[in-house]
Amino acid sequence: MTIKGTSDSTKQRRLRLGMVGGGRGAFIGAVHRMAARLDDKWELVAGALSSNPSVAVASGADLGLDADRCYSSWEEMAAREAARDDRIDAVSIVTPNHLHFAISKAFLEAGINVICDKPMTFTLDEALELVEIVRKSKLTFVLTQNNTGYPMVRQARAMVRAGMIGKVQIVRTSYIQDWLTTNLEATGQKQAAWRMDPKFAGTGGAIADIGVHAFNLAAFISGLELEAVSADLRSYGAGRSLDDNANVLLRYKNGATGSLWASQCAPGHNNSLTIGVYGDKGSLEWNGEVNDYLTYNEYGKPPQTITRGGPGADAVAGHATRMPAGHPEGYIEGFANLYSNAAEQIWARIEGRDPDALALDTPTVEDGAAGLKFITACVESSKNNSLWTSASL
Ligand SMILES: NC(=O)c1ccc[n+]([C@@H]2O[C@H](COP(=O)([O-])OP(=O)(O)OC[C@H]3O[C@@H](n4cnc5c(N)ncnc54)[C@H](O)[C@@H]3O)[C@@H](O)[C@H]2O)c1
Repeated sequence: MTIKGTSDSTKQRRLRLGMVGGGRGAFIGAVHRMAARLDDKWELVAGALSSNPSVAVASGADLGLDADRCYSSWEEMAAREAARDDRIDAVSIVTPNHLHFAISKAFLEAGINVICDKPMTFTLDEALELVEIVRKSKLTFVLTQNNTGYPMVRQARAMVRAGMIGKVQIVRTSYIQDWLTTNLEATGQKQAAWRMDPKFAGTGGAIADIGVHAFNLAAFISGLELEAVSADLRSYGAGRSLDDNANVLLRYKNGATGSLWASQCAPGHNNSLTIGVYGDKGSLEWNGEVNDYLTYNEYGKPPQTITRGGPGADAVAGHATRMPAGHPEGYIEGFANLYSNAAEQIWARIEGRDPDALALDTPTVEDGAAGLKFITACVESSKNNSLWTSASL
């Protein structure tokens, strides 16, 4: 038994990673750092880790970064890193949503690859502009729609592509949490405060924060393109201007239909992401809280459970797997698969190979734009009494 993820001896060095956001008291930046370390392909060497310049510098020191690479702003970091011979190979962007576009643009224009968290941008216009910037740059852009990194999600996508459930007709997905059941933002809790403030989050609350994950997961597994949505967005928390609950009906271009429920005020649910994709020959069902298992229902036959690393799991899932079956993997490993795939693409560029030839399943800038279109369409539909609204790019 070999364990994937140890150093690749054909490479002469680890790729150099910089980070914007993710300083003291932040959430997802630490997850990105753990994920980047997991397969020994990356080393964090630079950061502009906070909106507060002194916290940014202190946070860099906490992580053992060289003092001259603890930057007090991301603008300074982009300019100074671009000028170095040992410049970072990629920047990881883990700030609140309102900054994703400006930071992505600055680093891409400085010739630096980008790994950015979701939602990709603040507005749809920014997303469309970023698509053009990435295409022109010929650099790697990876969007951390991290659920696409789970082995059993990749397995499900491969099974749909192989025709194992026939023509997809129905998609049902939900992403529900309960941490915003009360007005946590009123207590000043950092993550709640910006997520419920349109100046930092954008036009969507729960729909942009987690609905976009459910949307992306449905697109990734089913392979379907969305045509239109009918959305009912609500704020149950008093005084909120952004939604904390969203019920959305979906129409896909191939005639399939679906439903999506995103909620941050569903008591009893910590982080429940589930999906079912139903075709004319069978269906696939997955639950993110028990992510090592995928249920395959071939019509007329008893259900089968496919286990990560077990019989029936194919090469696509195997490529995203480190531990033998039964040793649980999870959230960090899913992110790590995206970091590993990003490294493979960047090495291909460094070595003059075509990164697209690797055919990796990492979410792209186009996927990010589709996410912004989904969010925008849901907000618009809901404002118009759930009118069916185009969600097609
Ligand atoms: N993929 C996922 O599962 C997932 C999960 C959580 C968050 N996210 C996304 O990650 C991003 C961050 O979310 P979070 O929960 O970690 O937020 P957070 O509030 O915990 O952290 C944000 C960090 O960004 C920093 N920041 C803000 N302005 C900055 C600036 N001008 N320069 C440098 N740093 C700056 C803050 O100081 C803080 O360190 C959001 O876009 C969110 O949607 C994704």
